[in-house]
Order: sequence, then C-alpha cells, then structure tokens
Amino acid sequence: MNQDLKTYLTTCAARVESALEQRLPSENVLPIRLHEAMRYSVLNGGKRMRPMLTYATGQVLGISPDELDAIACAVECIHVYSLIHDDLPAMDDDDLRRGKPTCHKAFDEATAILAGDGLQAFAFELLAHDATISATAEKRLEMITALAKASGSQGMVGGQAIDLESVGKTLTLPELENMHIHKTGALIRASVVLATLAGKNVDAETAKKLDNYAKCIGLSFQVKDDILDEESDTATLGKTQGKDKDNNKPTYPALLGLAGAKEKAQLLHEKALENLADFGDEANLLRELSLYIIQRDH
Ligand code: IPE
Ligand code: IPE
Ligand code: MG
Ligand code: MG
Ligand code: MG
Repeated sequence: MNQDLKTYLTTCAARVESALEQRLPSENVLPIRLHEAMRYSVLNGGKRMRPMLTYATGQVLGISPDELDAIACAVECIHVYSLIHDDLPAMDDDDLRRGKPTCHKAFDEATAILAGDGLQAFAFELLAHDATISATAEKRLEMITALAKASGSQGMVGGQAIDLESVGKTLTLPELENMHIHKTGALIRASVVLATLAGKNVDAETAKKLDNYAKCIGLSFQVKDDILDEESDTATLGKTQGKDKDNNKPTYPALLGLAGAKEKAQLLHEKALENLADFGDEANLLRELSLYIIQRDH
C-alpha cells in the first residue's frame, strides 16, 4: 500500500475512533448493558472506510475534518447497526465480527437488536444535534434525509431484504447488482454525499461527479467483500470465511467466477477514477481509496 495512504488510513481511523468514543453514551449511563453492547460493537475495530470517504471528500472540497467528525460518526453508527443485525441468527447467523464474538454472542439476541436500534437513532441525533456541525438547519435536514433514504427500505435495509429473499436463488447479473447497490452501495454513497452537503457552495456538477464516483466504489466494495469471503481466511477477515457459500448467498464469484468478479471490481475502479478526471491532486485520496477497496485483504 502507498505510504501516504497508509498514514492517512491510520490517522483517520484514530480520529473517528476518538470522535465516536467521546460521543457514544458512556458505559456508566443506564441502561448499562445496552450501552456496553453499543460501545462493544462500535469501538476498537473496523476499517472505518465510510468515515475515511467522508474525510477524503472533505479534502476535495476544502472542508476541515473538524466539520466532518459528527457526520463520519453518524455514517459509521448506521454501518455498525447494519452489521449487528446482519450477524443475527435470523439473518446471516455469524459468530465472529471484527475478530471478536458478534454482538448477540457476546451479549444476547435481544440486546443486539436493541444495540442496533440504539445506534440507528443515535446516528440521526448526531446529524440533528451535534454542535460541531456548523451547517444551517436546512443543510442538516438535507443530510438527515440523505442518510435516512440511504439506510431505509429503499436503501440498505431494502438491499438486506433482497439479500435474504434471494438465498438459494440464482439471480441475474442486473438483479445481483441491484441488491449490492442497495445493501452496501447506498451507505457508501451517503458517506460522500453527506460531506458534499457539509461543503459551502459546492456546485451541482462537482457534487454529481463525486456521487458517481461513490456509486462505483459502493458496488466495488461489495464485489470485493464477496471475493474475500471466498478466497481469504477467517483470521485475516476477522469474520468467518466461506459463509456466503454455506448460506447459499448469491454473490459475484458465484455468478461470474472469481476471475470474472475480479475483473468487475477492476472495471468499477477504473470507472470510479474516470469520474474524478477533472479533479487535481486534492482528489488523490479518493483515487487511492478506490484502489484500496479492490486490493484490500480484509
Ligand atoms: C462489511 O463492511 C459489510 C459490508 C457492507 C460489505 P466493512 O468491510 O466495511 O466492515 P468493517 O467496518 O471494516 O468491519
Ligand atoms: C452486509 O453484507 C451488508 C450489510 C451489513 C448492510 P454481508 O452480509 O456480505 O457482510 P459481511 O460479509 O457479513 O460483513
Ligand atoms: Mg448479509
Ligand atoms: Mg453477513
Ligand atoms: Mg460478505
């Protein structure tokens, strides 16, 4: 990995870790077990890809990281809530997440459901209320709307519903793409869109290019996730390898083969870069992140 990117990823992960640490209700606040479960799932783990995309978009638009902390936390809280629920026995039934027992294993199913619910609400509370966001009330409302749409039944949750009803079925390529665009792409897109909403005077064309970039990497992210499930190992992934096959999930490798899936990821990366062609060095992090998404090992 490029050394600059490595430094950036480490700095960014530490930044969002601390921002989340400070904002999440402490473990001493009632109900203690619920807050323990929320903090257990959010802190100390995860690549923090979505927050990184928020900060990297800020770099293109000249928005300081201080302005973006609460937004990055909000997107990460939605993501972690989606992971907690994704791992439940009623969904993917996973025991391991980020190298630790899944929330329902470390606590119990009811607590895991509630921890996810709590994190979802907390994400919107941050956007509505966090004092470090200086955007106008109108802009905050746009952010809340964008995150709600990306998370809801026509976004991530909708994608998860398609995922579950597709078990054991062979989807067509457009159907598979549609599922991935929703279950994973929507929230990744929101990580970029929310940063553009935090910008002052971002012109529509710039916002559109960034959004188109985000659409490409949102899809390549899940294509790579499917590839890793097939060819990585549990220790590296921090989640059980081979679960998609065990659960009979439709995936890119299942439909196109590993080589075909890798080719698809590469094409999406190239398409992502095309959308950044008019930007200068200020978009280098976004370019590097797109490459990292398809080259990562976990
Ligand atoms: C895993 O997401 C679930 C998907 C949407 C593919 P990540 O690979 O970003 O998981 P963490 O946050 O690094 O654990
Ligand atoms: C998860 O997709 C997408 C969401 C959590 C919204 P996966 O089920 O493939 O994610 P992993 O592989 O369990 O992380
Ligand atoms: Mg799943
Ligand atoms: Mg899963
Ligand atoms: Mg997966």
